[in-house]
Amino acid sequence: MTTSRHKIIVAIDGYSSSGKSTMAKKLASDLGYRYIDSGAMYRAVTLYAMEHGMISDSGVVNEKALSEALKNIRIDFAVTPQGQHTLLNGKDVEHLIRSLQVSNHVSPVAAIHSVRKALTAQQQRFGAEKGIVMDGRDIGTTVFPQAEMKVFVTASPEKRAHRRYIELQQNGTPSSYEDVLANVIERDHIDETRTESPLRKADDAVVLDNSDMSLPQQEKWLMDLFNRIEKDINECNG
Ligand code: CDP
Repeated sequence: MTTSRHKIIVAIDGYSSSGKSTMAKKLASDLGYRYIDSGAMYRAVTLYAMEHGMISDSGVVNEKALSEALKNIRIDFAVTPQGQHTLLNGKDVEHLIRSLQVSNHVSPVAAIHSVRKALTAQQQRFGAEKGIVMDGRDIGTTVFPQAEMKVFVTASPEKRAHRRYIELQQNGTPSSYEDVLANVIERDHIDETRTESPLRKADDAVVLDNSDMSLPQQEKWLMDLFNRIEKDINECNG
């Protein structure tokens, strides 16, 4: 448990299915910090667009309709006995937003300027009082460039697809491994090459390749980094 006098912002970015959420959640819980899954927010907007006929069968997003509808989309997080759940206009959509259908449409939706602008503003409000761990693609570069701790997580596409494949099976929404791998590769490509806030390592982020790490090893790595950063901050502040 931390003895920090100053709460900080922890930004965890990285590739799809790299285990960011798992490690971010654990760190937040150990520190008594708030955890925000920014990807869940993009997934919730995508689900809204799908449910309102704004995405064609071939995957084309009606940007104009979605931009206009953003004012009607409210995203909150609720703490439930099963963990933190995402609410879309008051409805618990935690299960729905994790489906492969949503995964298949989320990156084009997340590349839309008005969507990024609205969600970035909300994410910044969540972090206004610090004491937050947020994971995503652009947290250390765009949402909180001033974050005191930045981590960039990566692992091989095959390892990441395998983890997501197991997760989908456990959630009762199984898909073939090949489909999951194709989605991981496709999303990485769209996220890295989009014009606005592309996925990239912030210059001052520390890289974590967790391809061959167990969960406890990964948790220890993250907590050790936090402790080092906290020590430096406390020393600087006298
Ligand atoms: O869990 P996983 O890593 O598969 O993805 P996620 O964190 O749930 O994010 C889903 C998608 O939302 C990503 O593939 C990005 O296209 C988008 N996203 C983003 O653009 N910016 C963020 N800060 C977070 C997610």
